[in-house]
Amino acid sequence: MCGIISALSYENNVSDSLISALSRLEYRGYDSAGIAYLDENSQLQRIRTVGKVQYLRNAVEKSNINSCIGIGHTRWATHGKVTEFNAHPHVADGVAIVHNGIIENYQELRQKLVSEGYKFESETDTEVVAKLTASHIKSGKNFVDAFKHSIGELIGTFAIVAIYEKSPDTLLGAKKGSPMAVGISPDKKSAYIASDAVALSTLADELTYLEEGDIVVVTKGEQISYTIFDMQNNIVNRQKVLNKVSLTDMSKSGYETFMLKEIYEEAIVARRTYDSYKYDIDVSKFDNVSIIACGTSFYAGVLAKYWIEKYAKIPVDVEIASEFRYRNAVLRKNSLYIFISQSGETIDTLCAMRLVKENGMKTMALVNVDSSSIAREADYVIKTEAGVEIGVASTKAFIAQILSILIMFIGKENINIDAIEKAINSVLNAGFDFARIAKKLAGGRSFFYIGRGTSYPIALEGALKIKELTYVSAEGYPSGELKHGPIAIIDEDVFTIALAPFDQYFEKTISNTQEILARDGKVLLITTEDATASLGMFKNNANIECVFLKQNEDKYYPFALTTLIHLLAYYTAKSKGYDVDKPRNLAKSVTVE
Ligand code: AGP
Repeated sequence: MCGIISALSYENNVSDSLISALSRLEYRGYDSAGIAYLDENSQLQRIRTVGKVQYLRNAVEKSNINSCIGIGHTRWATHGKVTEFNAHPHVADGVAIVHNGIIENYQELRQKLVSEGYKFESETDTEVVAKLTASHIKSGKNFVDAFKHSIGELIGTFAIVAIYEKSPDTLLGAKKGSPMAVGISPDKKSAYIASDAVALSTLADELTYLEEGDIVVVTKGEQISYTIFDMQNNIVNRQKVLNKVSLTDMSKSGYETFMLKEIYEEAIVARRTYDSYKYDIDVSKFDNVSIIACGTSFYAGVLAKYWIEKYAKIPVDVEIASEFRYRNAVLRKNSLYIFISQSGETIDTLCAMRLVKENGMKTMALVNVDSSSIAREADYVIKTEAGVEIGVASTKAFIAQILSILIMFIGKENINIDAIEKAINSVLNAGFDFARIAKKLAGGRSFFYIGRGTSYPIALEGALKIKELTYVSAEGYPSGELKHGPIAIIDEDVFTIALAPFDQYFEKTISNTQEILARDGKVLLITTEDATASLGMFKNNANIECVFLKQNEDKYYPFALTTLIHLLAYYTAKSKGYDVDKPRNLAKSVTVE
């Protein structure tokens, strides 16, 4: 997905707002960035750079811009390589466009425009919107009508913002499938259209989120104001909400990266999630629970299955959203469908939820952003209290997700939050020599993360984290499954992180660990202090290293293991010199299919 910002102001400093907002939006994508603005002569100007926003900031600072209206974009490439030509904004005859989403019918629109004599400079789908709007203006429509007509011809998902050099007092936005918010500065001198509250955290205290099919027209007359039109072109009032993103959320608070800060918040997040949980849902009335999500949120669902079936005795299905959507799933009337999403904007999860809703089932969203699309469309919403998560690799949100589910199904009164908080803090404050361990792991050709029972979903999460942060192949596997094929991969260059707290599965996972060592595999065994006496067989074996967690109740081990695998991935990536907040090829929330 991409990040969008735009500004219309009485003051001529919009380039500062655009760049500062793009820096905050980098978590949505950072392949390239660009701005377009109208200069003092109302001429359309554009600056685009490949790479992170810092490169654009450097170019803008050299340009001495004085402008009252502009748009900005940071890109996660969907159509077309990461080049300056494919960077947004895209322009045509004085029109400039930025876009987050996918225009599915862009090829036929492009052919039509080429037949009208338009020449394309990029491989993107977005460029057709600029040229389509320009062609409608050329046919005699004013900017607003030309934009509305263009939007009406698009099939797909989009959050689009447009400016036009002959309408210097007008900023236009359209929303379908990708998030968009509009806000006005506290001094009423500026108005902004952006992807989300993070972009506007220092610009607008109040936001209005556009709904599906909305178009917003921002104008600068007597005062700065905006009007929202729905799909039937009726003027509508959408709810205003406070911008809850604070400056603290947007600062690293002394940590070297957002990700490290957010890992170190995991104990506080657990406590805050527990204290703030107030939902009274009688889950016993449901015959079945279906959990649908992507990525880390999916692994929270896998863990939930173990807990819900063990403690609440309710059957649970857990599905990848992008598969669930298209496999003609048999939907069950008395099922509770839970959609887990940190961002609340993951299109696969959103569309899976819409499918379930269209079939008359009740939907519950477990989300970290209560103004998100998934939150706004679900029948029930449980807000995780992780706070804003900027690091692309999800960390503290996962803790909030699994604890929220544990509370939902076994009840606060059956959870010892002190034990959970202590377990997480024991890892955070253990002083494990992650740098040394990470250096060792950094040499691995590939990784296995193995575990049994509730350690298995954490193995899945650990593998994803190290993959997305170190770019090395890693697989999460049930310990007992390795011998059914994957063990063929094991040799001295393959590292296995074995998650084996001293629980009912301990001996079995230790046996699997011995099978790996017997084939010269390297092992990092994550176990608990009460297992020490059972590990004599590994004494003097240079191929295995043990890390000991504090002993705890079995059901709380996933929390300490989570914090540990998050730190392990973090320091392994750091030892490789990678950008852990913005790993290559990724974006914080994937709002495209
Ligand atoms: C997690 O570290 C990844 N960045 C990714 O798998 C993420 O969990 C997934 O895209 C789902 O995002 P969501 O929770 O915002 O829906």
